[in-house]
Amino acid sequence: MYRLLKKESENKLIMGIRDTFKKAASEYAHETNELCFLPENRLNEKIFITQGQYDWLSGQLLYCLIRYLKPKRILEISPSSGYSTMFMALALKKNKGGLIFSYELDLKAAKSAATNFNNYQVNDFVKLHIGDAQQTSIVAPDDFNLYFLDSLHTNTFARWFIETHVLKASRSDALFHMHDILPRHARVRCHNGPPFEGTPLDPDPKISISKKVKRAIKKILNIEKQMEDDRAPLCIYPPLLGKELPTYDGNCTTEAVLGNDLAALMKPEDSVFLYDVIDDYPNLEPLKYNSLFCRYYPRADDKNQPMEWNNSWWCSVTALKEAYKTLNNKK
Ligand SMILES: C[S@@+](CC[C@H](N)C(=O)[O-])C[C@H]1O[C@@H](n2cnc3c(N)ncnc32)[C@H](O)[C@@H]1O
Repeated sequence: MYRLLKKESENKLIMGIRDTFKKAASEYAHETNELCFLPENRLNEKIFITQGQYDWLSGQLLYCLIRYLKPKRILEISPSSGYSTMFMALALKKNKGGLIFSYELDLKAAKSAATNFNNYQVNDFVKLHIGDAQQTSIVAPDDFNLYFLDSLHTNTFARWFIETHVLKASRSDALFHMHDILPRHARVRCHNGPPFEGTPLDPDPKISISKKVKRAIKKILNIEKQMEDDRAPLCIYPPLLGKELPTYDGNCTTEAVLGNDLAALMKPEDSVFLYDVIDDYPNLEPLKYNSLFCRYYPRADDKNQPMEWNNSWWCSVTALKEAYKTLNNKK
């Protein structure tokens, strides 16, 4: 029986990852109306104390994928206040099975996540661990269907995750996800830039001055702390045809550089940047929350129109293993 089930889910992936998303959305898009309370509360710090960090199209497709593939075990690093986890947990709840093993370092964020899982009655589908994922041993680490990475955005951390978990995956149908990454051909803007000089850190007028100052200091300290490992040089592109504004590719972390290097070594059917498929899903209304989010996360397109970046990258674990080996051999 197990063999039959495994074969069926492997067959779903043989069609290629883009087609898998299409099939998943065609079967389950109609359910994503029930998820609107998530983006509507994404910036509500009474619910998500660190605010939700996951974009709307990525969230909907994540939900549909889980409804379609019916994974038994998901490894998530990291949930923060549980925003991305909620898309997954609600899908597992509808599937009536499956478990997310989720690891969060920040105690305040993890407490907020735990409250959310309780309030939205998805406790049975999430096992939340508070602490450093790198210091925690993970039960049966090779048996996950989905490896979900949205944590410290450094090359070192992503390599640790890939080497410690993904390379050991035993399932040939497993999938890998990275967030906060765009394809190199993306052309986007942020904080009214590039160039970025003198632009506000936080334009939301509802946030008090003292909170803004605290956030700005935290951001500067964090940037300094992570500078060496985390920051990748920005490529800035001049306006096209003189009509648009300067843009960049949206990638400024060493994790995103690694992800793009790996994607470049894969066959097109083995990986997908959701930035590239936004036009494939008009029924999911991917632009629905653009204006709402871009007040706080001031992201835009080359005409400075508010735009969520849909910054998820998905690939097959089998392709990732191969690409990782090739990349390391090249060095
Ligand atoms: C980008 S946020 C995750 C956002 C979340 N997925 C969402 O949808 O809102 C990254 C999180 O990684 C956590 N983190 C960083 N390093 C970690 C580690 N070593 N172990 C566990 N969590 C870690 C941070 O505390 C932070 O909450």
